[in-house]
Amino acid sequence: MAQAYSSADVPSMGRRQFMNLLTFGSATGVALGALYPVVRYFIPPSSGGAGGGVSAKDALGNDVLLSKFTAEHNVGDRVLVQGLKGDPTYLVMQGESAIADYGLNAVCTHLGCVVPWNASEDKFICPCHGSQYNNEGKVVRGPAPLSLALAHVDVADDKVSLTPWKETDFRDGESPWWS
Ligand code: FES
Repeated sequence: MAQAYSSADVPSMGRRQFMNLLTFGSATGVALGALYPVVRYFIPPSSGGAGGGVSAKDALGNDVLLSKFTAEHNVGDRVLVQGLKGDPTYLVMQGESAIADYGLNAVCTHLGCVVPWNASEDKFICPCHGSQYNNEGKVVRGPAPLSLALAHVDVADDKVSLTPWKETDFRDGESPWWS
């Protein structure tokens, strides 16, 4: 059963002390609230999501840890995680204990099916209408009009995070269509 608390439940504290505490608490809250935008201004985007970065999550919603991830997958694997805006995103196993510094949004640029990785063909092949993307997500066969969107992949304290990719698309030298 839910409990209700009131100031009468603070027997060891005098009323005046209690009021002082409340006043201090509100003043501190106001001060911290005023400081928040200042603090945010000085925090670099890559350090905490202010720039739109998110922790990559596995199928159970847990943070993806590089050590565990690389122990469980093989070089060359493309593995789905939950990425920016909750989109399914591939991380690329580049070495025994390394992943690529880019992730691939798995949403097909034709009509939005999730595109599976086909290791034997070394391509992503969409089951919906047959579009194909090479192993870096560059479109190589339509009807998909565009390559899979990129995201930056960073690792800090073993945690894998994703941030929006706003720079040139390294696969074709073009500006990113997704930003
Ligand atoms: Fe992928 Fe149509 S949705 S080819």
